[in-house]
Amino acid sequence: MQNQPYVLGDSTLAARRLTIQDAHFGEVSERLLDDLAIRPNDRIVELGCGPGGLSRRILQRLGEKGVLVGVDITQGLLTQASAALAGSKARFEPVLANLTDLGPWLDGADVVIGRAVLHHVPMAELLLGRLRIKVRPGTRVGFIEPDFRSPLGRISYLEATTRPEVAPLRVWVTALNHLYLARRISPAVGASLARTVQTAGYLNVREGWSECRSDEMMIENMLMVYDEVRDVLHDLSILTRDEIAEQQRLLKAIPVRDLPPAWGSYRVACEAP
Ligand SMILES: C[S@@+](CC[C@H](N)C(=O)[O-])C[C@H]1O[C@@H](n2cnc3c(N)ncnc32)[C@H](O)[C@@H]1O
Repeated sequence: MQNQPYVLGDSTLAARRLTIQDAHFGEVSERLLDDLAIRPNDRIVELGCGPGGLSRRILQRLGEKGVLVGVDITQGLLTQASAALAGSKARFEPVLANLTDLGPWLDGADVVIGRAVLHHVPMAELLLGRLRIKVRPGTRVGFIEPDFRSPLGRISYLEATTRPEVAPLRVWVTALNHLYLARRISPAVGASLARTVQTAGYLNVREGWSECRSDEMMIENMLMVYDEVRDVLHDLSILTRDEIAEQQRLLKAIPVRDLPPAWGSYRVACEAP
């Protein structure tokens, strides 16, 4: 499988953005951990743990004998996770690896989990099918993936009718979709995730969908993504640097009250047969 660096960067800025993301995904993350019935002694493998936002929530549910293996391809984010999670009751084991290798770090897992990671993996469906072979029967498996598509229906309607000021949300979400598609990764992998795990033979499949609120933090997140991928968007002819500067100006000026959601999330939990 293709091995490419994380498309959105590994700086402390990226970590701050992922902290915001953690706040936005807080409720749905806790629901996924409920769905997976985390037990204090579980050995949990987290795919694409990044700077450790979901990891912290997982560790809060583990006891002294619990272990969280955090796998990530970006050393900078993994280092930040190790620092942020030091002192937790349960052990955190960072592993620098490409998750598509499905390496020995999966051995003995009771739970395999990932948040906002599958949409960074080309043809993630292939990974999920192969994952089934690598885990023990009964292993609980769960993912949260962002929805960067459905909320565009409402945004586009509002922009064309009574709320032209929401245009910068449409531009940002569209640019992100184009960036992912240019990198051959799917911004919509979450939409068919429940079906994918079903066709791969996983059992007890449960799914949920919700929208994330639009607030000041979401706008900050959008501004930071533009900062992180300005050159890439320019080089790929998705948005020029000048257009990005203009979009950032418009985003800063947008009144956040009553803004429609710009993205949502899919949640899927299941068990290996
Ligand atoms: C959007 S971030 C999400 C981070 C974290 N799961 C969270 O919810 O805050 C995606 C993460 O997946 C990691 N990643 C992307 N592709 C990967 C791969 N092939 N193997 C391992 N990690 C990968 C990136 O380095 C990044 O940390």
